[in-house]
Amino acid sequence: MYVSNSRLPHVLPPSAYWSLESSQSENKVLLTKGWHLVGTTVELSQSGDFLTCQLLGIPIQVRNFDGQLSALSNVCAHRHCLITRLTSGRSSKMKCQYHGWEYDKTGRTQQIPVAKDFAPLDRERTQLAEYRVSTCGKLVFVSLAGDGPLLVDFLGDFFAVCSERFGQGWEPFLNEDAEHECNWKVPVEGTLEAYHVPQVHPSTFGTFPQEAKTSHVLGSNHTTLSTRLPFGASSKLDGIFQWLEARFLRLMGRIPTADYRHHHCFPNVLFSFTDAVSLCQCLVPTGPESCRSIVRQFGYVGKSRGPRRWIARIWGRLAARITKRILAEDRALFKSVQQGLRNSTHEGMLGRCEERIHAFQVYVDREVKVFVPEVKTQEVFLCRPFCDDQGLES
Ligand code: FES
Ligand SMILES: [Fe+2]
Repeated sequence: MYVSNSRLPHVLPPSAYWSLESSQSENKVLLTKGWHLVGTTVELSQSGDFLTCQLLGIPIQVRNFDGQLSALSNVCAHRHCLITRLTSGRSSKMKCQYHGWEYDKTGRTQQIPVAKDFAPLDRERTQLAEYRVSTCGKLVFVSLAGDGPLLVDFLGDFFAVCSERFGQGWEPFLNEDAEHECNWKVPVEGTLEAYHVPQVHPSTFGTFPQEAKTSHVLGSNHTTLSTRLPFGASSKLDGIFQWLEARFLRLMGRIPTADYRHHHCFPNVLFSFTDAVSLCQCLVPTGPESCRSIVRQFGYVGKSRGPRRWIARIWGRLAARITKRILAEDRALFKSVQQGLRNSTHEGMLGRCEERIHAFQVYVDREVKVFVPEVKTQEVFLCRPFCDDQGLES
């Protein structure tokens, strides 16, 4: 069942999805202190493995130094070149691609070619900025703020769930990093309702879960949807998926529940779980009207060996293909939503089934006070009569 008994206001005005002022405030207030998914320990398993990314405009290299992960600035202290232009790889040293300066796990210069030409060298001034890096299961997160919450506090009760669902017995089958031409909140909000499913996913899900078998938890810094698969009697690929997953689980000695859970850890980290699939998605703004989606999907492999291991891997890859298709169906909409937000003359509204979006917008509005003037005009809308079951005013 839903929590709300009436439609809800669209708390954020369209400008919150494109203005530079809003974007800067969100980065400063919401996202700098948050934790952002950058990859998995599987991608960083060997000493010298590295991943690079841009977090809120800051180039970062996450690197395995003899078994210890460090997140350092990827900009050289010599003459500002990116230390590496690769998005991932393995190298024996963290060495700048331009003149070969080398750095250790704390970002201090280790080796400088023709060092005598730079004497006297103040090593404090050439130390790279270091950021906090932390893991949950095999997921690797980075936070830009030195004084923000620990990852365990950021994820709250969900830390234990994720430690298990992305930990031992689970393997990554999908690594997808994609650029979107829209504000970061557009894809976040797109995952918080299934109302769009009949239109956007007609051949995958086909229908959305009915209220009677749906439950929402609306917290102050998270929301959760719980339901069961398939979403509806007429669900298509979704129905086949659930049928196959149940058989796969029995083969692996587990009892299928058909439970589906989607969890949003504010502001920008999303999880979804079926019995045998765990997905984490993080949306990081790259500008007021652009963002990057980082997705890592794991599949259950247990302790299986031999043929069962192979079947588990086939299942994991099949589930990854379905996810890629669903993500592509969603992605096709984002640019149109952004164009609409740029030109909208309406304040927007949210149905009861979209109440998780409302909870998220209330959180954004509460944290980023820059939106207050526009919100006041919408309080009038809140006073209108409730909707009847047909969505008409009573
Ligand atoms: S810019 Fe990196 S070594 Fe010169
Ligand atoms: Fe979707």
